Amino acid sequence: MRHFLDIDKTDTADLRAMIDQAAAMKATRAGLPKGTPDLEQPLKNHLVALIFEKPSTRTRVSFDVGVRQMGGETIVLSGSEMQLGHGESIADTARVLSRYVDMIMIRTFDDASLLELAEHASVPVINGLTNRSHPCQIMADVLTFEEHRGPIAGKKVVWVGDGNNVCASMIHAAGQFGFDFTFTGPATLEPEAVFVEEARSRGVKVELVRDPGEAVAGADLVVTDTWVSMHDALSARERRHNQLRPYQVNEALMAQAKPDALFMHCLPAHRGEEVTDAVMDGPNSVIFDEAENRLHAQKAVMRWCLDA
Ligand code: CP
Ligand code: NVA
Repeated sequence: MRHFLDIDKTDTADLRAMIDQAAAMKATRAGLPKGTPDLEQPLKNHLVALIFEKPSTRTRVSFDVGVRQMGGETIVLSGSEMQLGHGESIADTARVLSRYVDMIMIRTFDDASLLELAEHASVPVINGLTNRSHPCQIMADVLTFEEHRGPIAGKKVVWVGDGNNVCASMIHAAGQFGFDFTFTGPATLEPEAVFVEEARSRGVKVELVRDPGEAVAGADLVVTDTWVSMHDALSARERRHNQLRPYQVNEALMAQAKPDALFMHCLPAHRGEEVTDAVMDGPNSVIFDEAENRLHAQKAVMRWCLDA
């Protein structure tokens, strides 16, 4: 039984195989109506619970569609409507759900909740975002980069802005897929040192650069995310905006990256804040391929979890 909890906790060769399988599965579906079942039905007779303790558009719909295309069915649950939100322990929830469904995807707050669910579940658990990481997003980002530019190994990826949960998974991916990673943002919003050290120990270059223009020089991929994540206190909004304003991704910043540098954002984006319309809708932006690839990447993740 395999859980997909984080990119750094997953075998390197397995991650590579998942990206390759995602690309292959995507290719077989080109042009088909979205509800067309895949030729192979690896999730036939399987039920998947999708638990959301935070809002979601992409994760919710892409998991649901992916399960259906592979022949399974989903049960979508909001945390607040479950006993989980009213005091039942995560461990008991894990034991109970394991009797009903074949796999659980959860979007939650503390990473500890995800780990407790995985520890007590007897079915695979997938991390659909915690305060700490968002591995499914970065699997989609790697797939998206490679379909546009070929192998990501050896490329330079620059994260601009808040060193948040999505950034953490990108650093994990740097170590696993072998690309160089640069963070540029305010000192107080740097990614945790443990992520940086771990990636460096795997032999990739990880840099923290204060000046955004200097950071994006030579970039093959520029990535940003919202300045205020779902787990951030709303009271911190103004302070974060003030700190992060110099790190807006706009045309002037993109002009300092490689001319063919791609732009990605996990979405939802706050246009005019962390990124301008000109970059979002510009020729180097692959944000909607990136969103689509959540579907394809997660289908491969689910197959890996179930060995199906
Ligand atoms: N990128 C992402 O996870 O989007 P949702 O919050 O809409 O799921
Ligand atoms: N960093 C954002 C990502 C949303 C998909 C958040 O956690 O709210």
